Amino acid sequence: MTTASDYSEKIPNNVELREDRRLQRALESWQPNFLNWWESMGPTLPTQDVYLRTAINVGREGWAHFGHVAMKDYRWGIFLAERDPGRQIGFGAHKGEPAWQKVPGEYRADLQRLIVIQGDTEPASVEQQRNLGATAPSLYDLRNLFQVNVEEGRHLWAMVYLLHAYFGREGREEAEELLHRNSGSLESPRILGAFNEETPDWLSFYMFTYFTDRDGKYQLGTLKESAFDPLSRTCEFMLKEEAHHMMVGTTGVDRVVERTAQVMVENDTDDVAALGAIPLPVIQKYLNFHYSVSLDLFGGETSTNVANYFTAGLKGRWLEGRRQDDHQLTSDSIMVDALDDAGDGQPSIGQLEVSALVGLNTDLRREYIADCQGGVNRWNKILAGAGLPHRVKLPHIAFNRRVGAFAGIEASPDGELLSADEWAARQGEWLPTDVDKTYVRSLMRPVHERGKIAAWIAPPRNGINGKPFDYDYVHLA
Ligand SMILES: [Fe+2]
Ligand SMILES: [Fe+2]
Repeated sequence: MTTASDYSEKIPNNVELREDRRLQRALESWQPNFLNWWESMGPTLPTQDVYLRTAINVGREGWAHFGHVAMKDYRWGIFLAERDPGRQIGFGAHKGEPAWQKVPGEYRADLQRLIVIQGDTEPASVEQQRNLGATAPSLYDLRNLFQVNVEEGRHLWAMVYLLHAYFGREGREEAEELLHRNSGSLESPRILGAFNEETPDWLSFYMFTYFTDRDGKYQLGTLKESAFDPLSRTCEFMLKEEAHHMMVGTTGVDRVVERTAQVMVENDTDDVAALGAIPLPVIQKYLNFHYSVSLDLFGGETSTNVANYFTAGLKGRWLEGRRQDDHQLTSDSIMVDALDDAGDGQPSIGQLEVSALVGLNTDLRREYIADCQGGVNRWNKILAGAGLPHRVKLPHIAFNRRVGAFAGIEASPDGELLSADEWAARQGEWLPTDVDKTYVRSLMRPVHERGKIAAWIAPPRNGINGKPFDYDYVHLA
């Protein structure tokens, strides 16, 4: 049922945009606004061209094309995964009914909200990362940064397509708003907290693409289950691109840890700051920060909104099809993290049994946490392989939380409850301090020469698309 992508069009697409003149015109009038946004809020480093992957189709084979392109001429297109004509709703009250090709009136507002929240994160990360090009540790890394940026731009297109095609005038207005809100803006910030934090250095970038893009993977995974078929198909294709973003994060942190371990071993010291590498305790602090703000993105431990989204069929669970239950959850329960108050006014960290529907945020966050542990295991393997006894770890779920059950308390990375004073006195042991950030930033000097790499990071094991590390991935202006 897939249609060949039309690449000769102004907006490459596989949704037969040509057949719907109104929609085509609406999107063509949004396009210059998008390009203005890209010019003013996108990457600041001037380049001639970049070796980029461009999505051109959705099939298993050959869905992407690689080549040097000027970024402003990148072909941001609209691609939905192939339609399964027999697809049925997999969960909730409508389980077993045919998937929706149109938006049911009763769910219109909720679906629009879910799409806007997802859409808002896509350009936000481009804004957060816009100055990183100036300090890239290699041309390979620079190219990866720009690849992530153009694809987040395409993800914005993916959400804007849905808003334009299915949500009428309100959808078009929301599409405009997606370009007007800006990361960190005081008047009109991005919707979610983590997307208003700056990404000031490359260690932050790798941590962001590891932990925060991974949140994106889980959110897209729940929307891929949606009864609203165009949303499902859109997210399925976005997940394909998202895998590369997380590879950038995973291998980026790998390489920082590898280089640090190497300098530690060669000099028989933990104090690698004097030697131009990033000390392990600083890496741990960056990890603590990005992990905890990403946990907040999953929302409160309990949520009646999310229960309603599930029952309505708007948003499912991670890998819904593989769950061994009735996919309706009306009589199931789940233990969620909670603050206990033993009656003496002293809270403690405990668990609370709630209905499974209300605890769906917890279910998703746990899937995410288990996935994050995979990275920690990799990084510890690198340390062990270097013969070092040091290890990194994920901090406790209550650490540095601003959303949910633990928003009102402070806890150490080991889960020990702290008074506000203790937290104030000790948080610099666990979160990056100004001194740490200044040090990391002092290392961020550009290495824009072919085949060269900054001293604080190891080179990658593999290049991109079979090219070597010393390939001319980027031509600077
Ligand atoms: Fe994205
Ligand atoms: Fe991403």
